[in-house]
Amino acid sequence: MRFSRIAIVAAGLFSQLAIGATTQFSNERRFMFDVDGNFIDAYGSKINYGKYYLYGNSWSIEGSEAYGIKSYSSVDLVNWRYEGFLYDPTTTNDCSGSGGCGRPHIIYNAKTKKYILWANNDGYVVATSDHPATGYKFLSSQPALDPVVAKLNPADFAVELINNEGYIVYSGLNFTITDGGSLWPQISQSLYLGHLTSDLVNTTTVAYDVKSEANDIVDNQAESPDLIFRNGLWYVFASNTCGYCSGTLAIVYRSSSIQGPWKRQILSGDSCNSQLEGILPLVDPKTKETTYVWHGTSVPGGPRTGFGGHIFQPLVFNKDGSVQDLNCSPEATFEVDFTPGEGTAASGLASQSTDKSPDLATYSAVCDSDQYILYQTWTAERTGLLESVSVNIAATTQTTALKVTVFNFSSVQDLLEPGYTFNTLGESSFLPSNLTWVFNNATVHVDAQVSAGERLGLQISGADFAPYCHLEYPLAANQKSEDLILFQQGIGQYSARGPKGSSPPIQVRERRGLKFWSVVN
Ligand SMILES: *[C@@H]1O[C@H](CO)[C@@H](O)[C@H](O)[C@H]1NC(C)=O
Ligand SMILES: *[C@@H]1O[C@H](CO)[C@@H](O)[C@H](O)[C@H]1NC(C)=O
Ligand SMILES: *[C@@H]1O[C@H](CO)[C@@H](O)[C@H](O)[C@H]1NC(C)=O
Ligand SMILES: *[C@@H]1O[C@H](CO)[C@@H](O)[C@H](O)[C@H]1NC(C)=O
Ligand SMILES: *[C@@H]1O[C@H](CO)[C@@H](O)[C@H](O)[C@H]1NC(C)=O
Repeated sequence: MRFSRIAIVAAGLFSQLAIGATTQFSNERRFMFDVDGNFIDAYGSKINYGKYYLYGNSWSIEGSEAYGIKSYSSVDLVNWRYEGFLYDPTTTNDCSGSGGCGRPHIIYNAKTKKYILWANNDGYVVATSDHPATGYKFLSSQPALDPVVAKLNPADFAVELINNEGYIVYSGLNFTITDGGSLWPQISQSLYLGHLTSDLVNTTTVAYDVKSEANDIVDNQAESPDLIFRNGLWYVFASNTCGYCSGTLAIVYRSSSIQGPWKRQILSGDSCNSQLEGILPLVDPKTKETTYVWHGTSVPGGPRTGFGGHIFQPLVFNKDGSVQDLNCSPEATFEVDFTPGEGTAASGLASQSTDKSPDLATYSAVCDSDQYILYQTWTAERTGLLESVSVNIAATTQTTALKVTVFNFSSVQDLLEPGYTFNTLGESSFLPSNLTWVFNNATVHVDAQVSAGERLGLQISGADFAPYCHLEYPLAANQKSEDLILFQQGIGQYSARGPKGSSPPIQVRERRGLKFWSVVN
């Protein structure tokens, strides 16, 4: 049953409402994390069924460039375990080099029991493995394509298994267009749909145009497609041209034949500030009905492509087969009944932590260590050995280390008094070479006994010309703000403030929290 169906997506903003039965997606929460607390670093992700596997391009820059395809697995679509790279990106292979291979898709060949990875790299490359998440070996030859597309620059694509047959939907870039402008458009690309060979590692070299009657600029800027078959109709979902962007058209074509003719709809003018990654089919075990979940890569106000989040929402189909517009309302949430994957839910240091910021808050990137020292306080929930405290920090090209200090203190009032000295429990300094370009952990080892009710804090300090980035969230209405207070102190501010010269140079970031977690045993 594994991978007999493929879907895509990435995501993360699921919260589980009932054991293995319902998942909730939110338009607001777009950043996803694994159970160890690290950022889900998988741009342009796709999710496959079995367990659910989410995989996409890594932007963490763990060497000198962005490379490789990472994967994550989950049983419940809430707790994701990091499974590492699909293949060793540090060796020379068909996907070597900056950026690597784009739009990775995996299908399962039940006859050979092999997982088959397709990825875009100067045409397409194919790799196979006995395991869904690791050990992929590239084939020595590339798939052959339809001659019309082969003359173009084969680009975004998806491969899918539908009723046990393999299909590919792909675009070809044309850089020598006659109607290009200084600003736009700069290329043209439209979609083609054809069969894979029965071994699923090649195409039959016959593909059909996926275009509407209009054959207009929307049809001729189509990219990042995925394919489903529902109630006798073929659907090609896609976006328009937009490399690593934060919003583009959401379009869908439908036809009763893969040869067309195709009817087109625009489902959103900006895909809720995202670009389609794929369509994830979730089967309700009670009704056997499939919900098709549209999901996109989103850059939610972040300053860096690697800060890509994910957005999910179930598609709603009308009786005539047409599809309703996406709901981009920021407050919208969506619940979907689904079949849990095999096995037990993943857990890790962050998911097991008791003293931490919430797992499912709306996190966003804040890059201001050049302007502020931050202090996040909390109250120890239980007595035990505080082993470590972690925060999510993204680096780039900073020259100064970022110092993270864990401390205890008597009271907030005392903490802000001139001359008060907190008690340092542990500290570490991180250089960019210790960190990555996405929100992975910076961990301070502590090993100090703490008691329930003790006031604890962490300080983050590292003024530089280019700031490090951390994650913040708005405190929920029911969250006690006297426990979780985030303070800021302007760089160089070590003297009194206010009209009477009696205020500390430290202010509260009102009802904001910093993402952190601690390990207490
Ligand atoms: C695909 O088929 C072509 C012949 O049509 C062949 O040259 C090529 O090696 C095949 N590629 C793979 C990955 O099997
Ligand atoms: C690219 O577009 C131009 C202008 O429409 C056309 O003349 C040319 O044949 C196209 N190239 C390919 C390989 O299809
Ligand atoms: C801080 O921790 C130390 C031991 O690590 C303890 O002796 C001290 O009482 C604690 N201070 C406060 C204010 O909790
Ligand atoms: C950062 O990297 C340096 C050099 O590799 C290493 O010596 C140091 O221990 C690392 N620091 C942390 C906090 O991991
Ligand atoms: C991140 O966490 C892992 C596991 O606890 C630890 O080994 C690693 O040193 C941490 N990384 C940093 C930069 O602190």
